[in-house]
Amino acid sequence: MRSHYCGDITSLDIGKDIEVSGWVHKRRDHGGVIFLDIRDLHGIVQVVFNPDHQNIFDLADSCRSEFVINIKGLVRKRIEGAINPKMATGEIEIEAQDLIIFSKAVTPKFPLDDYQEVNEDIRLKNRFLDLRRPEVSDRLLKRSKITSKIRSVLEGHSFHEVETPILTRATPEGARDYLVPSRAHPGEFFALPQSPQLFKQLLMVGGLDKYYQIARCFRDEDLRADRQPEFTQVDIEASFVTTEDIMALGEEMITTLLLEFTNYESRAVPRIKYKDAIEKYGCDKPDLRIPLELQDISELVKNEEFKVFSGPANDPSSRVVALRVPKAEGLTRKNIDSYTDFVGKLGAKGLAYIKIVALGEENGLQSPILKFLQQETVDAITASLSVENGDIIFFGAGNANVVNLSMSSLIKKLGEELELLTCEWAPCWIVDFPMFERTKDNQLTSIHHPFTLPAVSPKELQANPDEALACAYDFVLNGYELGGGSLRVFDPIMQSEIFSILGIASQEAEEKFGFLLSALSSGCPPHGGIAFGLDRIVMLLSGTTNIRDVIAFPKTQSASCLLTDAPGEVSLEQLEELYIQSTVEQE
Ligand code: AMO
Ligand code: AMP
Repeated sequence: MRSHYCGDITSLDIGKDIEVSGWVHKRRDHGGVIFLDIRDLHGIVQVVFNPDHQNIFDLADSCRSEFVINIKGLVRKRIEGAINPKMATGEIEIEAQDLIIFSKAVTPKFPLDDYQEVNEDIRLKNRFLDLRRPEVSDRLLKRSKITSKIRSVLEGHSFHEVETPILTRATPEGARDYLVPSRAHPGEFFALPQSPQLFKQLLMVGGLDKYYQIARCFRDEDLRADRQPEFTQVDIEASFVTTEDIMALGEEMITTLLLEFTNYESRAVPRIKYKDAIEKYGCDKPDLRIPLELQDISELVKNEEFKVFSGPANDPSSRVVALRVPKAEGLTRKNIDSYTDFVGKLGAKGLAYIKIVALGEENGLQSPILKFLQQETVDAITASLSVENGDIIFFGAGNANVVNLSMSSLIKKLGEELELLTCEWAPCWIVDFPMFERTKDNQLTSIHHPFTLPAVSPKELQANPDEALACAYDFVLNGYELGGGSLRVFDPIMQSEIFSILGIASQEAEEKFGFLLSALSSGCPPHGGIAFGLDRIVMLLSGTTNIRDVIAFPKTQSASCLLTDAPGEVSLEQLEELYIQSTVEQE
Protein backbone atom coordinates (compact mmCIF):
# COMPACT_ATOMS: atom_id res chain seq x y z
CA MET A 1 0.00 0.00 0.00
CA ARG A 2 2.95 2.32 -0.26
CA SER A 3 6.18 2.80 -2.15
CA HIS A 4 7.48 5.48 0.21
CA TYR A 5 6.88 6.84 3.70
CA CYS A 6 5.53 10.41 3.41
CA GLY A 7 8.37 11.95 5.37
CA ASP A 8 11.08 10.22 3.33
CA ILE A 9 10.30 11.69 -0.11
CA THR A 10 12.98 14.11 -1.30
CA SER A 11 13.88 16.07 -4.41
CA LEU A 12 15.75 12.93 -5.57
CA ASP A 13 12.29 11.40 -6.15
CA ILE A 14 11.13 14.16 -8.51
CA GLY A 15 9.57 12.61 -11.61
CA LYS A 16 8.78 9.29 -9.88
CA ASP A 17 5.35 7.70 -9.64
CA ILE A 18 4.85 6.87 -5.98
CA GLU A 19 2.23 5.62 -3.54
CA VAL A 20 1.77 6.82 0.03
CA SER A 21 -0.72 5.99 2.79
CA GLY A 22 -1.46 7.92 5.95
CA TRP A 23 -3.64 10.41 7.80
CA VAL A 24 -4.95 13.75 6.53
CA HIS A 25 -2.97 16.19 8.63
CA LYS A 26 -4.29 19.41 7.13
CA ARG A 27 -6.59 20.40 4.26
CA ARG A 28 -6.47 23.69 2.40
CA ASP A 29 -8.30 25.08 -0.66
CA HIS A 30 -6.43 27.55 -2.83
CA GLY A 31 -7.96 29.03 -5.93
CA GLY A 32 -9.80 25.91 -6.93
CA VAL A 33 -6.92 23.60 -6.01
CA ILE A 34 -7.05 21.32 -2.92
CA PHE A 35 -3.95 20.64 -0.85
CA LEU A 36 -3.88 17.72 1.57
CA ASP A 37 -0.91 17.29 3.90
CA ILE A 38 -0.60 13.55 4.47
CA ARG A 39 1.12 12.30 7.62
CA ASP A 40 2.62 8.94 8.55
CA LEU A 41 5.20 7.81 11.10
CA HIS A 42 8.07 9.38 9.14
CA GLY A 43 6.59 12.81 8.50
CA ILE A 44 4.36 14.87 6.25
CA VAL A 45 4.08 15.40 2.49
CA GLN A 46 1.90 17.81 0.51
CA VAL A 47 -0.46 16.38 -2.11
CA VAL A 48 -2.13 18.58 -4.76
CA PHE A 49 -5.51 17.84 -6.37
CA ASN A 50 -6.49 19.69 -9.56
CA PRO A 51 -10.13 20.07 -10.64
CA ASP A 52 -9.29 18.46 -14.00
CA HIS A 53 -9.27 15.05 -12.19
CA GLN A 54 -12.91 15.63 -11.20
CA ASN A 55 -13.51 12.25 -9.45
CA ILE A 56 -10.60 12.36 -7.08
CA PHE A 57 -10.95 16.12 -6.68
CA ASP A 58 -14.44 15.61 -5.25
CA LEU A 59 -13.18 12.79 -3.02
CA ALA A 60 -10.32 15.00 -1.80
CA ASP A 61 -12.86 17.73 -1.13
CA SER A 62 -14.73 15.34 1.18
CA CYS A 63 -11.58 14.51 3.20
CA ARG A 64 -11.35 15.86 6.73
CA SER A 65 -8.64 15.84 9.39
CA GLU A 66 -7.46 12.36 10.37
CA PHE A 67 -9.18 10.50 7.52
CA VAL A 68 -6.95 7.60 6.51
CA ILE A 69 -6.20 7.63 2.79
CA ASN A 70 -4.03 6.22 0.04
CA ILE A 71 -2.59 8.34 -2.75
CA LYS A 72 -0.92 7.44 -6.00
CA GLY A 73 0.77 10.31 -7.81
CA LEU A 74 3.77 11.96 -9.36
CA VAL A 75 6.47 13.72 -7.34
CA ARG A 76 7.21 17.20 -8.65
CA LYS A 77 9.21 20.21 -7.55
CA ARG A 78 7.19 22.91 -5.85
CA ILE A 79 6.98 26.20 -7.68
CA GLU A 80 9.27 29.02 -6.54
CA GLY A 81 7.64 30.77 -3.57
CA ALA A 82 5.81 27.61 -2.44
CA ILE A 83 8.99 25.98 -1.12
CA ASN A 84 8.76 25.45 2.64
CA PRO A 85 12.22 25.25 4.24
CA LYS A 86 10.67 24.36 7.62
CA MET A 87 9.32 21.08 6.23
CA ALA A 88 11.62 18.11 5.52
CA THR A 89 9.69 17.48 2.29
CA GLY A 90 9.22 21.22 1.67
CA GLU A 91 10.85 21.26 -1.76
CA ILE A 92 8.48 18.78 -3.35
CA GLU A 93 4.81 17.87 -3.60
CA ILE A 94 2.77 15.01 -5.04
CA GLU A 95 0.44 15.62 -7.94
CA ALA A 96 -2.42 13.24 -7.13
CA GLN A 97 -3.56 10.72 -9.73
CA ASP A 98 -5.57 8.40 -7.52
CA LEU A 99 -7.12 8.60 -4.06
CA ILE A 100 -8.72 5.95 -1.85
CA ILE A 101 -10.36 6.80 1.48
CA PHE A 102 -9.76 3.84 3.82
CA SER A 103 -11.40 5.33 6.93
CA LYS A 104 -13.27 8.43 7.92
CA ALA A 105 -12.65 10.08 11.27
CA VAL A 106 -14.71 12.12 13.69
CA THR A 107 -13.25 15.49 14.64
CA PRO A 108 -10.25 14.67 16.87
CA LYS A 109 -10.50 15.50 20.59
CA PHE A 110 -7.48 17.78 20.21
CA PRO A 111 -5.88 19.25 17.10
CA LEU A 112 -2.99 17.31 15.61
CA ASP A 113 -2.25 19.76 12.79
CA ASP A 114 -1.40 22.66 15.04
CA TYR A 115 0.89 22.05 18.03
CA GLN A 116 -0.81 22.84 21.31
CA GLU A 117 -0.10 21.85 24.88
CA VAL A 118 -2.96 19.50 25.70
CA ASN A 119 -3.93 18.46 29.22
CA GLU A 120 -2.26 15.13 30.02
CA ASP A 121 -5.48 13.44 31.13
CA ILE A 122 -7.11 14.19 27.76
CA ARG A 123 -4.01 12.92 25.97
CA LEU A 124 -4.00 9.70 28.01
CA LYS A 125 -7.72 9.12 27.53
CA ASN A 126 -7.19 9.44 23.78
CA ARG A 127 -3.73 7.90 23.68
CA PHE A 128 -4.37 6.41 20.20
CA LEU A 129 -4.55 10.01 18.91
CA ASP A 130 -1.73 11.25 21.10
CA LEU A 131 0.55 8.54 19.70
CA ARG A 132 0.16 10.18 16.29
CA ARG A 133 2.04 13.24 17.58
CA PRO A 134 5.71 12.91 16.65
CA GLU A 135 6.95 14.02 20.07
CA VAL A 136 5.15 11.00 21.54
CA SER A 137 5.93 8.45 18.83
CA ASP A 138 9.58 9.59 18.54
CA ARG A 139 10.14 8.67 22.18
CA LEU A 140 8.69 5.19 21.64
CA LEU A 141 10.89 4.71 18.59
CA LYS A 142 13.87 5.83 20.66
CA ARG A 143 12.84 3.34 23.36
CA SER A 144 12.90 0.58 20.78
CA LYS A 145 16.38 1.62 19.58
CA ILE A 146 17.67 1.84 23.16
CA THR A 147 16.30 -1.62 23.97
CA SER A 148 17.91 -3.02 20.87
CA LYS A 149 21.28 -1.47 21.78
CA ILE A 150 21.02 -2.90 25.30
CA ARG A 151 20.38 -6.36 23.88
CA SER A 152 23.39 -6.04 21.60
CA VAL A 153 25.72 -5.02 24.46
CA LEU A 154 24.53 -7.90 26.65
CA GLU A 155 24.53 -10.48 23.89
CA GLY A 156 28.01 -9.27 22.96
CA HIS A 157 29.01 -10.48 26.44
CA SER A 158 27.28 -13.86 25.92
CA PHE A 159 24.23 -13.12 28.07
CA HIS A 160 21.10 -15.13 27.15
CA GLU A 161 17.56 -13.86 27.46
CA VAL A 162 15.34 -16.09 29.59
CA GLU A 163 11.71 -15.35 30.48
CA THR A 164 10.51 -15.81 34.05
CA PRO A 165 6.94 -16.15 35.33
CA ILE A 166 4.46 -13.33 35.80
CA LEU A 167 2.12 -15.41 37.94
CA THR A 168 4.31 -16.18 40.90
CA ARG A 169 4.86 -15.80 44.62
CA ALA A 170 5.68 -12.57 46.43
CA THR A 171 9.19 -11.30 45.60
CA PRO A 172 10.12 -8.87 48.36
CA GLU A 173 11.49 -5.61 46.92
CA GLY A 174 9.87 -3.37 49.52
CA ALA A 175 6.58 -2.50 47.80
CA ARG A 176 3.07 -3.97 48.11
CA ASP A 177 2.21 -6.86 45.79
CA TYR A 178 -0.37 -6.93 43.04
CA LEU A 179 -2.29 -10.12 43.76
CA VAL A 180 -4.14 -12.44 41.38
CA PRO A 181 -6.70 -14.84 42.87
CA SER A 182 -6.46 -18.48 41.88
CA ARG A 183 -9.67 -20.17 40.71
CA ALA A 184 -8.08 -23.61 40.88
CA HIS A 185 -6.89 -23.08 44.47
CA PRO A 186 -9.70 -21.47 46.44
CA GLY A 187 -8.52 -18.72 48.79
CA GLU A 188 -4.99 -18.68 47.34
CA PHE A 189 -3.30 -15.94 45.36
CA PHE A 190 -0.50 -15.44 42.92
CA ALA A 191 1.58 -12.29 43.25
CA LEU A 192 2.83 -10.44 40.19
CA PRO A 193 6.63 -10.14 40.37
CA GLN A 194 8.08 -6.96 41.87
CA SER A 195 11.20 -8.13 40.03
CA PRO A 196 12.47 -11.47 38.69
CA GLN A 197 14.97 -11.53 41.58
CA LEU A 198 14.45 -15.07 42.88
CA PHE A 199 14.00 -16.65 39.47
CA LYS A 200 17.21 -15.15 38.15
CA GLN A 201 19.04 -16.55 41.17
CA LEU A 202 17.46 -19.96 40.53
CA LEU A 203 18.65 -19.74 36.92
CA MET A 204 22.18 -19.36 38.28
CA VAL A 205 21.70 -22.41 40.52
CA GLY A 206 20.45 -24.12 37.35
CA GLY A 207 23.75 -23.34 35.63
CA LEU A 208 22.47 -20.79 33.05
CA ASP A 209 25.56 -18.70 33.89
CA LYS A 210 24.67 -15.36 32.24
CA TYR A 211 21.05 -14.24 32.14
CA TYR A 212 19.25 -11.11 31.08
CA GLN A 213 15.65 -10.19 30.53
CA ILE A 214 13.72 -7.10 29.52
CA ALA A 215 11.32 -7.85 32.34
CA ARG A 216 7.99 -6.38 33.29
CA CYS A 217 7.72 -5.69 37.05
CA PHE A 218 4.75 -4.71 39.19
CA ARG A 219 4.81 -2.70 42.40
CA ASP A 220 1.86 -1.29 44.26
CA GLU A 221 3.59 1.75 45.75
CA ASP A 222 3.11 5.49 46.00
CA LEU A 223 3.69 6.86 42.53
CA ARG A 224 5.90 9.78 41.57
CA ALA A 225 7.01 11.33 38.29
CA ASP A 226 9.67 8.63 37.89
CA ARG A 227 7.63 5.62 39.10
CA GLN A 228 4.96 3.49 37.50
CA PRO A 229 3.08 0.56 39.06
CA GLU A 230 4.00 -1.50 36.01
CA PHE A 231 7.49 -0.84 34.65
CA THR A 232 10.31 -2.55 32.81
CA GLN A 233 13.68 -3.64 34.10
CA VAL A 234 16.79 -4.59 32.21
CA ASP A 235 17.44 -7.47 34.56
CA ILE A 236 20.89 -9.07 34.65
CA GLU A 237 22.49 -11.92 36.61
CA ALA A 238 25.74 -13.85 36.22
CA SER A 239 27.61 -16.62 38.04
CA PHE A 240 31.20 -16.64 39.29
CA VAL A 241 31.41 -12.86 39.22
CA THR A 242 32.70 -10.12 41.50
CA THR A 243 31.13 -6.72 42.14
CA GLU A 244 33.73 -5.31 39.74
CA ASP A 245 32.52 -7.60 36.91
CA ILE A 246 28.90 -6.52 37.27
CA MET A 247 29.73 -2.84 37.73
CA ALA A 248 31.98 -2.88 34.65
CA LEU A 249 29.19 -4.45 32.59
CA GLY A 250 26.54 -2.01 33.86
CA GLU A 251 28.84 0.93 33.25
CA GLU A 252 29.65 -0.24 29.74
CA MET A 253 25.95 -0.61 28.97
CA ILE A 254 24.97 2.87 30.15
CA THR A 255 28.06 4.53 28.68
CA THR A 256 27.31 2.91 25.31
CA LEU A 257 23.78 4.33 25.43
CA LEU A 258 24.97 7.81 26.45
CA LEU A 259 27.58 7.84 23.68
CA GLU A 260 25.08 6.62 21.10
CA PHE A 261 22.10 8.78 22.02
CA THR A 262 23.58 11.95 23.56
CA ASN A 263 26.62 14.21 23.29
CA TYR A 264 28.17 12.54 26.36
CA GLU A 265 31.94 12.44 26.50
CA SER A 266 33.15 9.25 28.10
CA ARG A 267 34.98 9.58 31.42
CA ALA A 268 35.55 7.57 34.58
CA VAL A 269 32.36 7.14 36.57
CA PRO A 270 33.00 8.20 40.18
CA ARG A 271 32.18 5.89 43.08
CA ILE A 272 30.79 7.39 46.23
CA LYS A 273 30.37 5.54 49.50
CA TYR A 274 26.77 5.57 50.76
CA LYS A 275 27.87 7.19 54.03
CA ASP A 276 29.71 9.98 52.21
CA ALA A 277 26.77 10.55 49.85
CA ILE A 278 24.41 11.05 52.79
CA GLU A 279 26.92 13.28 54.55
CA LYS A 280 27.63 15.48 51.50
CA TYR A 281 24.39 15.45 49.53
CA GLY A 282 21.81 14.28 52.08
CA CYS A 283 20.72 11.45 49.75
CA ASP A 284 21.97 8.34 47.98
CA LYS A 285 21.12 9.62 44.51
CA PRO A 286 23.00 12.89 44.18
CA ASP A 287 22.78 14.99 41.03
CA LEU A 288 26.48 15.58 40.47
CA ARG A 289 25.78 18.18 37.79
CA ILE A 290 25.02 20.55 40.69
CA PRO A 291 28.16 21.82 42.43
CA LEU A 292 26.54 22.16 45.87
CA GLU A 293 27.48 20.16 48.96
CA LEU A 294 26.33 20.06 52.54
CA GLN A 295 28.87 20.71 55.24
CA ASP A 296 28.24 19.33 58.69
CA ILE A 297 28.75 22.14 61.20
CA SER A 298 27.45 20.31 64.29
CA GLU A 299 30.88 20.60 65.97
CA LEU A 300 31.07 24.36 65.34
CA VAL A 301 27.67 25.16 66.86
CA LYS A 302 27.56 22.67 69.74
CA ASN A 303 28.13 25.30 72.41
CA GLU A 304 25.96 28.08 71.02
CA GLU A 305 23.08 29.62 72.97
CA PHE A 306 20.97 29.36 69.78
CA LYS A 307 18.95 26.22 70.57
CA VAL A 308 17.80 25.79 66.94
CA PHE A 309 21.42 24.77 66.21
CA SER A 310 22.87 23.57 69.51
CA GLY A 311 19.92 21.26 70.24
CA PRO A 312 20.37 19.07 67.15
CA ALA A 313 24.18 19.48 67.29
CA ASN A 314 24.17 17.65 70.63
CA ASP A 315 21.67 14.94 69.63
CA PRO A 316 23.14 11.81 67.94
CA SER A 317 20.06 11.29 65.73
CA SER A 318 20.18 14.89 64.45
CA ARG A 319 22.55 17.04 62.41
CA VAL A 320 23.26 20.66 61.55
CA VAL A 321 24.40 21.40 58.02
CA ALA A 322 25.41 24.45 56.05
CA LEU A 323 24.96 24.79 52.30
CA ARG A 324 27.02 27.40 50.48
CA VAL A 325 25.28 28.62 47.34
CA PRO A 326 27.08 30.86 44.85
CA LYS A 327 25.42 33.24 42.37
CA ALA A 328 22.84 34.15 45.00
CA GLU A 329 23.08 37.98 44.96
CA GLY A 330 19.71 38.21 43.27
CA LEU A 331 17.82 36.14 45.85
CA THR A 332 15.13 38.30 47.43
CA ARG A 333 13.41 37.89 50.76
CA LYS A 334 10.46 36.47 48.81
CA ASN A 335 12.69 33.84 47.16
CA ILE A 336 14.11 32.85 50.54
CA ASP A 337 10.59 32.62 52.01
CA SER A 338 9.56 30.34 49.16
CA TYR A 339 12.58 28.06 49.83
CA THR A 340 11.62 28.08 53.51
CA ASP A 341 8.09 26.95 52.57
CA PHE A 342 9.57 24.32 50.27
CA VAL A 343 11.71 22.71 52.99
CA GLY A 344 8.83 23.20 55.45
CA LYS A 345 6.65 20.92 53.34
CA LEU A 346 9.36 18.27 53.70
CA GLY A 347 9.29 18.54 57.48
CA ALA A 348 11.99 21.17 58.19
CA LYS A 349 11.18 23.60 60.96
CA GLY A 350 12.89 26.52 59.24
CA LEU A 351 15.65 27.57 56.89
CA ALA A 352 18.19 29.87 58.51
CA TYR A 353 20.49 31.77 56.14
CA ILE A 354 23.39 34.20 56.00
CA LYS A 355 23.89 36.41 52.92
CA ILE A 356 27.50 37.30 52.19
CA VAL A 357 27.38 40.87 50.90
CA ALA A 358 30.84 42.26 51.72
CA LEU A 359 33.02 39.75 53.50
CA GLY A 360 35.20 41.20 56.29
CA GLU A 361 33.42 44.56 56.30
CA GLU A 362 31.15 45.94 58.95
CA ASN A 363 27.56 44.76 58.32
CA GLY A 364 28.95 42.71 55.42
CA LEU A 365 26.81 39.73 56.39
CA GLN A 366 23.02 39.84 56.43
CA SER A 367 20.99 37.39 58.45
CA PRO A 368 18.29 37.24 61.11
CA ILE A 369 20.36 34.66 63.04
CA LEU A 370 23.61 36.65 63.40
CA LYS A 371 22.39 38.13 66.67
CA PHE A 372 22.02 34.63 68.13
CA LEU A 373 25.53 33.43 67.21
CA GLN A 374 28.97 34.32 68.57
CA GLN A 375 31.18 36.21 66.12
CA GLU A 376 33.90 33.50 66.30
CA THR A 377 31.35 30.84 65.34
CA VAL A 378 30.17 32.86 62.35
CA ASP A 379 33.82 33.39 61.33
CA ALA A 380 34.53 29.67 61.69
CA ILE A 381 31.51 28.80 59.54
CA THR A 382 32.33 31.27 56.75
CA ALA A 383 35.99 30.19 56.79
CA SER A 384 35.18 26.48 56.63
CA LEU A 385 32.88 27.07 53.67
CA SER A 386 35.38 29.41 51.89
CA VAL A 387 32.53 31.81 51.12
CA GLU A 388 32.79 34.72 48.72
CA ASN A 389 30.74 37.86 48.23
CA GLY A 390 27.46 37.09 46.49
CA ASP A 391 27.06 33.72 48.23
CA ILE A 392 24.28 32.73 50.55
CA ILE A 393 24.59 30.04 53.22
CA PHE A 394 21.48 28.05 54.04
CA PHE A 395 21.29 26.03 57.25
CA GLY A 396 19.34 22.89 58.06
CA ALA A 397 19.11 21.72 61.66
CA GLY A 398 17.10 18.93 63.21
CA ASN A 399 16.38 15.22 62.87
CA ALA A 400 18.97 13.80 60.45
CA ASN A 401 16.36 12.20 58.15
CA VAL A 402 14.40 15.45 57.88
CA VAL A 403 17.54 17.56 57.30
CA ASN A 404 18.81 15.10 54.68
CA LEU A 405 15.53 14.97 52.80
CA SER A 406 14.83 18.71 52.90
CA MET A 407 18.37 19.89 52.15
CA SER A 408 18.98 17.34 49.36
CA SER A 409 15.70 18.45 47.76
CA LEU A 410 16.73 22.09 48.19
CA ILE A 411 20.04 21.36 46.43
CA LYS A 412 18.16 19.96 43.42
CA LYS A 413 15.77 22.91 43.35
CA LEU A 414 18.53 25.51 43.64
CA GLY A 415 20.63 23.73 41.01
CA GLU A 416 17.84 24.14 38.49
CA GLU A 417 16.50 27.53 39.48
CA LEU A 418 19.88 29.28 39.77
CA GLU A 419 21.11 27.43 36.65
CA LEU A 420 24.11 25.98 38.44
CA LEU A 421 24.42 22.76 36.39
CA THR A 422 28.06 22.25 35.36
CA CYS A 423 27.47 19.59 32.70
CA GLU A 424 24.73 17.64 30.98
CA TRP A 425 25.46 14.11 32.17
CA ALA A 426 26.81 13.13 35.57
CA PRO A 427 26.72 9.39 36.30
CA CYS A 428 28.04 7.88 39.52
CA TRP A 429 28.01 4.65 41.49
CA ILE A 430 26.92 4.55 45.10
CA VAL A 431 28.74 1.74 46.94
CA ASP A 432 29.24 0.36 50.45
CA PHE A 433 25.56 0.41 51.35
CA PRO A 434 24.66 -0.85 54.80
CA MET A 435 22.80 -4.18 54.80
CA PHE A 436 19.93 -2.82 56.89
CA GLU A 437 18.23 0.32 58.08
CA ARG A 438 15.85 0.88 61.00
CA THR A 439 12.14 1.48 60.41
CA LYS A 440 10.22 4.07 62.48
CA ASP A 441 9.37 1.32 64.98
CA ASN A 442 13.06 0.41 65.18
CA GLN A 443 12.81 -2.88 63.22
CA LEU A 444 15.68 -3.83 60.91
CA THR A 445 14.77 -3.90 57.25
CA SER A 446 16.85 -4.60 54.13
CA ILE A 447 18.10 -1.56 52.23
CA HIS A 448 18.18 -3.60 49.00
CA HIS A 449 16.54 -7.00 49.44
CA PRO A 450 17.12 -9.93 51.81
CA PHE A 451 19.20 -11.86 49.23
CA THR A 452 22.04 -9.32 49.20
CA LEU A 453 25.44 -10.70 50.25
CA PRO A 454 26.86 -9.01 53.36
CA ALA A 455 30.50 -7.95 53.31
CA VAL A 456 30.93 -9.69 56.71
CA SER A 457 30.65 -13.24 58.09
CA PRO A 458 27.33 -14.61 59.48
CA LYS A 459 28.81 -14.25 63.00
CA GLU A 460 29.80 -10.62 62.53
CA LEU A 461 26.46 -9.92 60.92
CA GLN A 462 24.61 -11.34 63.89
CA ALA A 463 26.81 -9.46 66.36
CA ASN A 464 26.38 -6.06 64.71
CA PRO A 465 23.74 -5.96 61.97
CA ASP A 466 23.44 -2.14 62.07
CA GLU A 467 27.06 -1.68 61.03
CA ALA A 468 27.30 -4.45 58.42
CA LEU A 469 27.95 -3.32 54.87
CA ALA A 470 26.52 -5.04 51.79
CA CYS A 471 28.17 -6.06 48.52
CA ALA A 472 25.69 -3.78 46.75
CA TYR A 473 25.85 -0.89 44.29
CA ASP A 474 23.44 1.59 42.72
CA PHE A 475 23.96 3.42 39.44
CA VAL A 476 22.81 7.04 39.57
CA LEU A 477 22.47 9.46 36.65
CA ASN A 478 21.64 13.15 37.08
CA GLY A 479 20.00 12.51 40.44
CA TYR A 480 17.94 9.49 39.33
CA GLU A 481 18.55 5.95 40.56
CA LEU A 482 18.86 4.15 37.23
CA GLY A 483 19.86 0.76 38.54
CA GLY A 484 20.75 -1.26 41.56
CA GLY A 485 22.22 -4.65 42.27
CA SER A 486 24.41 -6.77 44.46
CA LEU A 487 26.22 -10.03 44.93
CA ARG A 488 23.83 -12.58 46.42
CA VAL A 489 23.88 -14.83 49.39
CA PHE A 490 24.79 -18.32 48.16
CA ASP A 491 25.14 -20.04 51.52
CA PRO A 492 21.89 -21.29 53.12
CA ILE A 493 23.23 -20.61 56.64
CA MET A 494 23.92 -16.96 55.80
CA GLN A 495 20.49 -16.68 54.12
CA SER A 496 18.74 -18.11 57.20
CA GLU A 497 20.73 -15.71 59.40
CA ILE A 498 19.49 -12.74 57.36
CA PHE A 499 15.88 -13.95 57.54
CA SER A 500 16.23 -14.27 61.30
CA ILE A 501 17.71 -10.73 61.65
CA LEU A 502 14.76 -9.44 59.63
CA GLY A 503 12.40 -11.10 62.08
CA ILE A 504 11.27 -13.78 59.62
CA ALA A 505 10.89 -16.88 61.79
CA SER A 506 12.34 -20.12 60.42
CA GLN A 507 8.91 -21.62 59.80
CA GLU A 508 7.82 -18.56 57.84
CA ALA A 509 11.15 -18.54 55.96
CA GLU A 510 10.63 -22.18 55.05
CA GLU A 511 7.07 -21.50 53.95
CA LYS A 512 7.88 -18.45 51.82
CA PHE A 513 11.42 -19.14 50.64
CA GLY A 514 11.84 -22.90 51.16
CA PHE A 515 12.47 -23.32 47.43
CA LEU A 516 15.33 -20.79 47.61
CA LEU A 517 16.90 -22.38 50.70
CA SER A 518 16.63 -25.77 49.05
CA ALA A 519 18.28 -24.40 45.87
CA LEU A 520 21.08 -22.81 47.92
CA SER A 521 21.71 -26.24 49.47
CA SER A 522 21.92 -27.94 46.08
CA GLY A 523 25.24 -26.56 44.82
CA CYS A 524 24.88 -22.83 44.27
CA PRO A 525 27.54 -20.82 42.44
CA PRO A 526 28.59 -17.42 43.78
CA HIS A 527 26.52 -15.02 41.73
CA GLY A 528 25.35 -11.44 41.43
CA GLY A 529 23.61 -9.01 39.18
CA ILE A 530 21.88 -5.73 38.69
CA ALA A 531 18.63 -4.33 37.30
CA PHE A 532 18.27 -1.04 35.46
CA GLY A 533 14.95 0.75 35.06
CA LEU A 534 14.40 0.84 31.29
CA ASP A 535 11.68 3.48 31.54
CA ARG A 536 14.00 5.75 33.53
CA ILE A 537 16.85 5.23 31.06
CA VAL A 538 14.61 6.20 28.14
CA MET A 539 13.14 9.08 30.14
CA LEU A 540 16.57 10.63 30.74
CA LEU A 541 17.84 9.97 27.23
CA SER A 542 14.70 11.63 25.80
CA GLY A 543 15.09 14.75 27.90
CA THR A 544 11.85 14.40 29.86
CA THR A 545 11.26 14.11 33.59
CA ASN A 546 7.90 12.38 33.23
CA ILE A 547 8.11 8.58 33.00
CA ARG A 548 4.64 8.48 31.36
CA ASP A 549 6.12 10.19 28.30
CA VAL A 550 8.15 7.09 27.41
CA ILE A 551 5.49 4.42 27.97
CA ALA A 552 2.96 3.71 25.23
CA PHE A 553 0.03 3.18 27.58
CA PRO A 554 1.03 4.49 31.02
CA LYS A 555 -0.96 4.57 34.23
CA THR A 556 -1.83 7.85 35.94
CA GLN A 557 -0.39 9.02 39.25
CA SER A 558 -3.32 7.22 40.92
CA ALA A 559 -2.45 3.91 39.20
CA SER A 560 -5.29 3.80 36.71
CA CYS A 561 -5.55 3.65 32.92
CA LEU A 562 -7.71 6.48 31.61
CA LEU A 563 -7.93 4.91 28.16
CA THR A 564 -9.44 1.56 29.14
CA ASP A 565 -10.77 2.77 32.48
CA ALA A 566 -8.87 0.03 34.31
CA PRO A 567 -9.08 -1.11 37.01
CA GLY A 568 -12.79 -1.79 36.65
CA GLU A 569 -15.48 -3.57 38.58
CA VAL A 570 -16.16 -7.22 37.82
CA SER A 571 -19.40 -9.17 38.03
CA LEU A 572 -20.47 -10.98 41.19
CA GLU A 573 -20.33 -14.24 39.22
CA GLN A 574 -16.68 -13.70 38.43
CA LEU A 575 -15.92 -12.95 42.06
CA GLU A 576 -17.81 -16.04 43.19
CA GLU A 577 -15.83 -18.18 40.76
CA LEU A 578 -12.70 -16.88 42.46
CA TYR A 579 -14.11 -17.40 45.96
CA ILE A 580 -13.90 -13.65 46.62
CA GLN A 581 -16.26 -11.34 48.42
CA SER A 582 -15.78 -7.59 48.23
CA THR A 583 -16.09 -5.52 51.39
CA VAL A 584 -16.60 -2.36 49.31
CA GLU A 585 -20.22 -1.17 49.42
CA GLN A 586 -21.86 -1.31 45.98
CA GLU A 587 -23.15 2.13 44.90
P1 AMO B 1 15.42 -2.19 42.46
O1 AMO B 1 14.23 -2.34 43.33
O2 AMO B 1 16.47 -1.20 42.86
O3 AMO B 1 16.22 -3.56 42.34
O4 AMO B 1 14.95 -1.87 40.98
C1 AMO B 1 15.89 -1.71 39.94
C2 AMO B 1 15.57 -0.48 39.12
O5 AMO B 1 14.24 -0.52 38.63
C3 AMO B 1 13.74 0.80 38.50
N1 AMO B 1 12.46 0.91 39.24
C4 AMO B 1 11.37 1.53 38.77
N2 AMO B 1 11.12 2.19 37.64
C5 AMO B 1 9.89 2.69 37.45
N3 AMO B 1 8.88 2.57 38.33
C6 AMO B 1 9.06 1.91 39.49
N4 AMO B 1 8.04 1.78 40.35
C7 AMO B 1 10.35 1.36 39.77
N5 AMO B 1 10.89 0.66 40.79
C8 AMO B 1 12.16 0.40 40.46
C9 AMO B 1 14.77 1.75 39.07
C10 AMO B 1 15.62 0.82 39.91
O6 AMO B 1 16.94 1.28 40.02
N6 AMO B 1 15.95 -7.19 42.01
C11 AMO B 1 16.64 -5.94 42.25
C12 AMO B 1 17.82 -5.76 41.33
C13 AMO B 1 18.98 -6.66 41.65
O7 AMO B 1 19.34 -6.77 42.84
O8 AMO B 1 19.55 -7.22 40.70
C14 AMO B 1 15.66 -4.77 42.06
O9 AMO B 1 14.55 -4.93 41.61
O10 AMO B 1 15.52 2.30 38.00
P1 AMP C 1 13.14 31.07 65.11
O1 AMP C 1 13.98 31.12 66.34
O2 AMP C 1 12.23 29.89 65.01
O3 AMP C 1 12.50 32.38 64.75
O4 AMP C 1 14.20 30.81 63.94
C1 AMP C 1 15.25 31.71 63.65
C2 AMP C 1 15.78 31.39 62.28
O5 AMP C 1 16.22 30.01 62.24
C3 AMP C 1 14.75 31.54 61.17
O6 AMP C 1 15.44 32.06 60.03
C4 AMP C 1 14.30 30.12 60.91
O7 AMP C 1 13.94 29.94 59.54
C5 AMP C 1 15.56 29.34 61.23
N1 AMP C 1 15.26 27.99 61.71
C6 AMP C 1 14.35 27.60 62.62
N2 AMP C 1 14.35 26.26 62.78
C7 AMP C 1 15.28 25.81 61.93
C8 AMP C 1 15.79 24.51 61.59
N3 AMP C 1 15.31 23.40 62.19
N4 AMP C 1 16.75 24.41 60.64
C9 AMP C 1 17.23 25.52 60.05
N5 AMP C 1 16.82 26.74 60.33
C10 AMP C 1 15.86 26.91 61.25
